[in-house]
Amino acid sequence: MTIPIESRNHALVLQVDEVKNVSIIYFGEKLAKPDEYAGIPQSYRQANDFTEVLNAAYISSGNRNLLEPAISVMHADGNHSLDLRYVNHSSENIGADVKLYTINLKDPVYPFNVKLLYKVYMINDVFEQWSIISHEEKKDVVLQKFASANLYLKADKFWLTQYHGDWAQEMQPETSRLTHGIKTLDTKLGTRANLLQPSVFMVGLDGPPQEDEGKVLLGAMEWSGNFRIDLELDFQDNLRIIAGMNNYASAYSLKPSEAFETPKFLYILSNSGKGNASRNLHSWARNYKILDGNGERLTLLNNWEATYFDFNEEKLFKLLTDTKELGVDLFLLDDGWFANKYPRNNDRAGLGDWQVNTTKLPNGIGSLVKEAKNNDVKFGIWIEPEMVNPKSELYENHPDWVIKQPKREEHYFRNQLVLDLSNPEVQDFVFKVVDDLFTENPELAYIKWDCNAVIYNAYSAHLKNQSHLYIDYVKGLYHVLDRVRAKYPKVPMMLCSGGGGRVDYGALQYFTEFWPSDNTDPLERIYMQWEYSNFYPAISMANHVTEWGDRPLKYRVDAAMMVKMGFDIVVHELEENDLKFCQEAINSYNDVKDVIWYGDLYRLADPKEKSVASLMYVSDDKNSGVLFNYLVKDRFGDRSAKPIKLKGLDAGKTYSIKEINLYPGRNSRIDGSKTYSGEYLMKIGFNPDVSGWRTSVVCTIQGVE
Ligand code: GLA
Repeated sequence: MTIPIESRNHALVLQVDEVKNVSIIYFGEKLAKPDEYAGIPQSYRQANDFTEVLNAAYISSGNRNLLEPAISVMHADGNHSLDLRYVNHSSENIGADVKLYTINLKDPVYPFNVKLLYKVYMINDVFEQWSIISHEEKKDVVLQKFASANLYLKADKFWLTQYHGDWAQEMQPETSRLTHGIKTLDTKLGTRANLLQPSVFMVGLDGPPQEDEGKVLLGAMEWSGNFRIDLELDFQDNLRIIAGMNNYASAYSLKPSEAFETPKFLYILSNSGKGNASRNLHSWARNYKILDGNGERLTLLNNWEATYFDFNEEKLFKLLTDTKELGVDLFLLDDGWFANKYPRNNDRAGLGDWQVNTTKLPNGIGSLVKEAKNNDVKFGIWIEPEMVNPKSELYENHPDWVIKQPKREEHYFRNQLVLDLSNPEVQDFVFKVVDDLFTENPELAYIKWDCNAVIYNAYSAHLKNQSHLYIDYVKGLYHVLDRVRAKYPKVPMMLCSGGGGRVDYGALQYFTEFWPSDNTDPLERIYMQWEYSNFYPAISMANHVTEWGDRPLKYRVDAAMMVKMGFDIVVHELEENDLKFCQEAINSYNDVKDVIWYGDLYRLADPKEKSVASLMYVSDDKNSGVLFNYLVKDRFGDRSAKPIKLKGLDAGKTYSIKEINLYPGRNSRIDGSKTYSGEYLMKIGFNPDVSGWRTSVVCTIQGVE
C-alpha cells in the first residue's frame, strides 16, 4: 500500500510492506497518476540495503537499524529495542488549503505507540511534520532521542547551506558538499538558542542551492530551545535528515498514557531554486504562522542607542516630541526604566525588578503613555522577563527560581542568569510582568521581548528530573506566551534576543516581528537580511536606522526600508536636511509598505557575489513594485556596470520606474517618465545607476495603462 502525501507540486510517498514496515519511497514532483508511485523503488539499482530500514518513515533504534535513529528509548523493563510497524492511517482537510495526515505506528512487542503527523499546506507546498509518542507500559519509558521527523532524499549529490554567527554577526552562510557520514547542526545553549547556529538550513540536490534553478529543500525547526538536525549520507548514497529537539542532556521520562508531542519540523521543496521556495514560505508564514502575519505594523522610534540607560522623564518627553516630528507611529522605551533597590542604570543590576524606577520616572509609565497620546503617537516598552541579575530583589527573594548549580560557582552571560520557566510559579511571575504592564497601561501598544543570556550550569530547583529542564523550559515559555496571547491577542510584540539569538517559527506564532541583529550597520544588515529573507518575510524583520557603521544617512534609511523600518537616533540633533530626508522617507515608506510587507520578494543580485546588491518586491497583481539597490563593494570604481534583470513582472505590461528617497537637493539620474515593457525589464534589465556617488538607490515600479 502506498500513502501519497501530496501538496500542489510535490509528493512525499510512504509505502507499507507485507510486514507493516513504513518507508519513504519518494519525495519529489507529484505524478498525475498516483498509482505509479508504487513502482518507483523498482527503478533503483543501488547497493543492497541489508538493514531493510534505511528509508524508514521514522527510524527507530535497537532493531536491525545500524544508522542514526530518529527515536531511541529505554522501555520500562530496561530493554532498548524499538520496532515501529503500521497500524492505520487517516487524512482530513483542516482548512480550505490544509490537509493533515496521521499515520499510527506501534511496536509489536511493547505497548509503545508513535503517531506521525504531516500537515500539508497545498498551495505553498509547505510541509510540517511532527510526532506524538506514548505508551502503556507498567512504568515510565525513557525517551533518549525523540526527533520530530526524518526525511529520506535521493539525488546524485547533496550540498548543505548552513548558518553560523555570534552577537552582531548573525546569519553567516556556509555551503559545502555533504560527504558520507553525519553532519549535525545543533545548539545546546538552551535560551538565546540561535546565537551560534540557527536551525534553518538548505539542502541542494545535485548542485549547491541556487536562486532560480535547481532542486532545493529548505528546512527549519519550529522550536525555540535546543535543536538537533542530523544529515546522514548513507552507504546507498541517499540522504537522511533527522530533525527535532536536541536530546543532549535531555533524556525524557514518559509516564504511561502520557503523550509526548514533538515540535514541528518545517520543510519545503522547490524545483526552481530557493527564490521560489522562500516566496512560498513567506506567503505561508504570513497566512498561517506569524502573529497577525497579514496585519499592520508600526514604524517606531526606539531610544536604546539614543540614550542607553541614561534618561529621565524630561528626556523621554523630548523623544516623544521627536517621535511626532519624525512622523513614525510609536515610541519604544528600551531597557533601563525599572528597579529601585538596585536601579537599572547599567546591565549589571536590577533585571527582574519590574517596578518603575522612581528616580528616572517619578510619575510612572502612565505619564509617558499620556504624553505619547498628547503627541498623537503610540507607546511601547522593552522587557526581558525571563532573566535576572544576581544584583536584584528578585534574586534575593527567590534564589530557587534561578537556573544555577546549587553547589557550583555562578557563571554569568551579560551579568545575568535565566529564570527557571519549568516552574509554574515562575511562569506566573513572567506572565504577571506583561499582564501588569497592560493592566496599568491599557493603551500600551507594543512590547519588545528580549532574552539576553544562555543557560549555564543547567539545574532546576523545581524539577525532580533534571534532564527535563531544557525541554520544559521552552514548554513553560510557550505556556506563558499562550496566556499572553489569550488575553492580548494582537498587540504587536518584537522577538529580540540580544539581536537574532532567538527566531524560529515556533516563537513567531506569538510575535509580529523579530530583531535580526544588534548590528545595524546597514552594510552588514544588507547581507544578514538577505540570508534571513531565505526563510522569513520582510514584514517580520525589524531594522532601525542607527549610528552603527558611520554610513551616510540615506544608505542607513534605504537598508532599513527593505524590511520593517524603525529609527534609533537622536532626532532633535539631526541637521535640517537629514530630518527632512527622514520625514520624506517615512512618507514614502507608508506609500510602498504594503508591497514590501505583503508582496513577493525577488532577490536579483547577491551581495556575496556582486558589487551591487539588488532585490525587489512585487504586488500580487504585478502592477506595482519596489526595487532596492545597494553598493556593497567599492573597489576600482565599482558600480552597477550592467543592467539588473528584474523578475516577477508581467511581460506584457508597461511599467515606469521612479526613484524615491532622494536626499534633499539631489536630482535623480533616473528618467521617471520613461516606460518599459515587463519583458524588457526582465530580459534586458534596468540600470539603477548605483555608484560611489549613489551608493543606494530605491525605486518604485508602477504599471501604466
Ligand atoms: C539587547 C537588545 C538591544 C537592547 C538591549 C537593552 O542587547 O538586542 O536591542 O534592547 O538588549 O539592554
